[in-house]
Amino acid sequence: MDEKARALAAAKSAAGFQAADMVEDGMVIGLGTGSTVYYMIERLSARVREGLHVTGVPTSFQTAMRAREYAIPLTTLDDHPIIDMAIDGADEVDPHLNLIKGRGAAMTREKCVAAAAFQFIVVVDEAKVVSRFAAPVPVEILPFAVTPAMAQLRGLGCRPVIREGVKKDGPVITDNGNFIVDCTFPSIADPAGLEKAMAEIPGVVESGLFCGYANKITVIVGNEKGIKKIT
Ligand code: 5RP
Repeated sequence: MDEKARALAAAKSAAGFQAADMVEDGMVIGLGTGSTVYYMIERLSARVREGLHVTGVPTSFQTAMRAREYAIPLTTLDDHPIIDMAIDGADEVDPHLNLIKGRGAAMTREKCVAAAAFQFIVVVDEAKVVSRFAAPVPVEILPFAVTPAMAQLRGLGCRPVIREGVKKDGPVITDNGNFIVDCTFPSIADPAGLEKAMAEIPGVVESGLFCGYANKITVIVGNEKGIKKIT
């Protein structure tokens, strides 16, 4: 591992471990998706082995597999429509604690779980805290409607691209059986307005813009030296 990768891993693990330490006995926890959350799962698993009782609602098949591997008991939103705390990563966090999520293509279930939670803990490395969003906004779209939906997304001012796998051998398919379209905007002046406009397009299942959660978010920002919290 080179120095940069080592520093990034240290930042992610610092944030993930801190989030796991905020979990209290008996809680039902939303388990997000992504490399930072997987550090949290590692630490949570150690706490479960020491006697902590928790149950997790996974936000993806990948996370469910990881949680099973780490012996964290799982449940569903059917059994727990309201949960204590969701812990998840993000791709960018703006000064109003709006988020862009979905590099891992899991943002639809992630948003359902975040919405069901009393507290939303977001774990990131410091490079993801930005003054203005610059990352593409992922949008999950029904394959049936992808062409007209992309035309409407273009009308919102972006360049939409269907996400393909690393081997470029076809579209990425989400856990819900849909496509991801990554939308690059020259700039995003009104993230909440954009989230709403995207949600109104027929065929759009969900976007990776998470606005309006600021009252329940704690962002844990990790770096090589430790963490800081933003609320
Ligand atoms: C998945 C997500 C992830 O939480 C986000 O992409 C951050 O991932 P990582 O911690 O690996 O950087 O939104 O849909």
